[in-house]
Amino acid sequence: MTTEHARQKPAATPTDESAVLEVTGLDVHYGPRRRRRRALHDVSLSVAPGETVGIIGETGSGKSTFARTVLGLVRPSAGRIVIGGEDVGAYGTRQWRRLRRRGVVQYVFQDPLRSLDPDLTVEESLSEPLLIQGVPRQEAADRVRTFLARVQLSEDLLDRLPGELSGGQRQRVSVARALVTEPKLVILDEPVSALDSANRVQILQILKDLRAAGTALVFISHDLGSVAGVADRIAVLYQGELVEVGAARDVITDPRHVYTRLLVGSAPTLRTASADRAERDRLRALLHA
Ligand SMILES: Nc1ncnc2c1ncn2[C@@H]1O[C@H](COP(=O)(O)OP(=O)(O)O)[C@@H](O)[C@H]1O
Ligand SMILES: [Mg+2]
Repeated sequence: MTTEHARQKPAATPTDESAVLEVTGLDVHYGPRRRRRRALHDVSLSVAPGETVGIIGETGSGKSTFARTVLGLVRPSAGRIVIGGEDVGAYGTRQWRRLRRRGVVQYVFQDPLRSLDPDLTVEESLSEPLLIQGVPRQEAADRVRTFLARVQLSEDLLDRLPGELSGGQRQRVSVARALVTEPKLVILDEPVSALDSANRVQILQILKDLRAAGTALVFISHDLGSVAGVADRIAVLYQGELVEVGAARDVITDPRHVYTRLLVGSAPTLRTASADRAERDRLRALLHA
């Protein structure tokens, strides 16, 4: 009963000193006062060092809002965000920039053109965050090559611009750039959603391999199948609220919330747990009742 309750409606977690990300009671609204719309309500989530947490939910459930708020791009109307022990709630633009520059938190977006500067070569893009941190030039060059290999890209691409790469190559560069400083936390918002299935599988494998490096990942996707193989824990967002959080295996094999059951039942890659059409219709009716 207690575990069920914990997974049904995650209670505000007590402040965990060791967490790399601690979000408590997050509320986000959009729009002017008279037409305010709620995008997130009372979201609490804590991410441990080196942990991969998947956040899943349908389009419009608030996933990108969560990512953007944690990255300081959207201001919450309530709640507390602690990143690497720093309460970033009152941070202004400059403090946020400094936090990102120190390499505490990095990001990968669905469209790599949003996370890469179109005028920087692959080499410049990857070495920039290292040089900003004061890593000596030669060491930075070595590190860039190491990470290029980790994302399975050839050194021949070092002098290319993002516009001269394929979508899959660009997203690998974004992943390498986010990880090259070995940050404490990387937020990935739909990192594989725009890729073909071969690239998707390869990048998911790369993310899985990189988990061991000690960087915590928040991996956001509308596709439970993508998250399932990578995440240690899965958090389910439904209409702006976290309705279920648990170990990935538990959430997939024994989903508690009706919406999670529907998601699991609809994921073609989780066929073993896949519900038949009648069951899905039944769950959908329950959800919209
Ligand atoms: N900049 C914005 N201004 C107003 N409403 C927004 C803005 N961004 C998102 N929303 C709304 O907030 C809700 C959550 O959106 P979003 O976080 O993008 O969801 P997701 O990433 O899960 O698809 C949606 O109803 C969306 O229309
Ligand atoms: Mg989104």
